[in-house]
Amino acid sequence: MKIYLTKDYDSMSKKAAMILAAQVVTKPESVLGLATGSTPIGIYELLVKWCSSKEISFADVRTVNLDEYVGLDADNPQSYHFFMRRHLFDGVDIPLNNTYLPDGAAKDPQEECLRYERLLSSLGQVDIQLLGLGHNGHIGFNEPGDSFSLGTHVVNLADRTRKANSRNFGSLDAVPCKALTMGVGTIMRAKRILMVVSGADKAETVSRAFAGPITPAVPASVLQLHPDVTLVGDESALSCLLKEEKPL
Ligand code: F6R
Repeated sequence: MKIYLTKDYDSMSKKAAMILAAQVVTKPESVLGLATGSTPIGIYELLVKWCSSKEISFADVRTVNLDEYVGLDADNPQSYHFFMRRHLFDGVDIPLNNTYLPDGAAKDPQEECLRYERLLSSLGQVDIQLLGLGHNGHIGFNEPGDSFSLGTHVVNLADRTRKANSRNFGSLDAVPCKALTMGVGTIMRAKRILMVVSGADKAETVSRAFAGPITPAVPASVLQLHPDVTLVGDESALSCLLKEEKPL
């Protein structure tokens, strides 16, 4: 595993954006796995900037997102479809029909999970999967539990996750209770994983994920088994993990 320690949120965003840009430059037809949430916003801003100045192009890129809320359609401003258009897709030269997210408004969410898994298989291996980290150790919307889920599935969102995300909804009651998410197995199939973390409130979770036991109680801990993980985090987010590192 590679760890990049950066000074602050902006330098974390820049390092991670450079890794994604390098992927797109070296393989223009890359399949990028993308995440939403507040952490990647700075990364997307930079990718939009570099695309506008023609330093990179997304013309041949395909993207797949981790998750979507059940019950929200693509035009709902709280949906992850909307988030991705607002923060990335509308600002780069990617054809919208090369961007894929699970459909939160699908009539049959279980069937939608199967459709999304089939779609992911048809696109081939994800070249690099960007991940944020939930305070409870979730990746995508794989919440802590008794076992690791394999494929895309419907989840009941943990109270802590709904509370954290209520900042975007105005009130806790407005936050959907369910979501569709790639499974841990789906995420682990990616060739490379790029996790980004920022802020002291993530420090303990980062350390549980990467220096603790591998357990479904901390879903991100499964990444310890992935052969190509890059963690980019700022000083506050990595403070506990780096304390755990034994001196050589
Ligand atoms: C979002 C996602 C989530 C977030 C996580 C961290 O697509 O999959 O796992 O990455 O909840 O969110 P932020 O970045 O808002 O702290």
